Amino acid sequence: MQNMTEAQLTDVVLQRYQDTPDPRLREILQSLIRHLHAFVRDVKLSEDEWLRGILYLTSVGQISDDKRQEMILLSDNLGISMLVNMISARVAHAATESTVVGPFYVPGTPERRWGESIQQMPCDDPPLFVTGRVLDLDGAPVTGAQIELWQTNSNGMYDIQDAEQPEHNLRGWYRVNDAGEFLVQTVRPVRYPIPTDGPVGELLQATNRHPWRPAHLHVKITAPGCKPLVTHIFDAEDPYLDSDVVFAVKQSLVRRFEPVAAGERHREYGIGGPCLELRYDFAIERVTPAG
Ligand code: BEZ
Ligand code: FE
Repeated sequence: MQNMTEAQLTDVVLQRYQDTPDPRLREILQSLIRHLHAFVRDVKLSEDEWLRGILYLTSVGQISDDKRQEMILLSDNLGISMLVNMISARVAHAATESTVVGPFYVPGTPERRWGESIQQMPCDDPPLFVTGRVLDLDGAPVTGAQIELWQTNSNGMYDIQDAEQPEHNLRGWYRVNDAGEFLVQTVRPVRYPIPTDGPVGELLQATNRHPWRPAHLHVKITAPGCKPLVTHIFDAEDPYLDSDVVFAVKQSLVRRFEPVAAGERHREYGIGGPCLELRYDFAIERVTPAG
């Protein structure tokens, strides 16, 4: 046999992956190998640096468990989640834009009644009512839709990060009515720093970046025969809109939460004082025609 040269190595490795039966897996792996080899050549990576990188990725895996997903957080912080979102979410023009799901989504949250609050703890914040409709791209109501929300408490922590909060605090889903309308009750979201006590925190510190996400509600909308939508509603008054640590802000998702005096409708829900309101119509794409 002959020694391989550095110049030949990449082609030899690519050739070994040529028999991968799944064509999409072959394409992804060969492109990944090409780009990783080019990166190593570009920065002339030393063995010590490569080992540091391996130990770093190992620590990202080791700190992750069923409640903490440091790998998603790393992907979010490198802008990869948002890039995947941008290239895979090329939706019809009229549809509501999507953004990252993030590491704090929990499946299987409880259904909430019409107008019930997802804030399950005593709280002095004024209630926020989010009203609106789920429509298809022709403007027709999507009657079978479910709208699911999750957000942090006013201490900037999700229930799964905070032993003081009951399970599923500030999470839940609502059914829309026959007109596609929903009435969500919650509290105004706050800006919060992403977790900095792990490897992603080390990365932020080493690169002189702040850890803040602008205040937002997470929204997921699903309906039979429709493309699911995962998005945020951002607070227009937040100072971090232009420097979200995970690059997830889109202008079309920014809204004002309007202060309103408590009216009849709010009194139905035991609200005597002032509250905030937001009207928001979501437009989602049907994949099969309405039946
Ligand atoms: C979030 O909004 O829950 C989130 C998204 C990406 C990274 C960290 C948190
Ligand atoms: Fe969030």
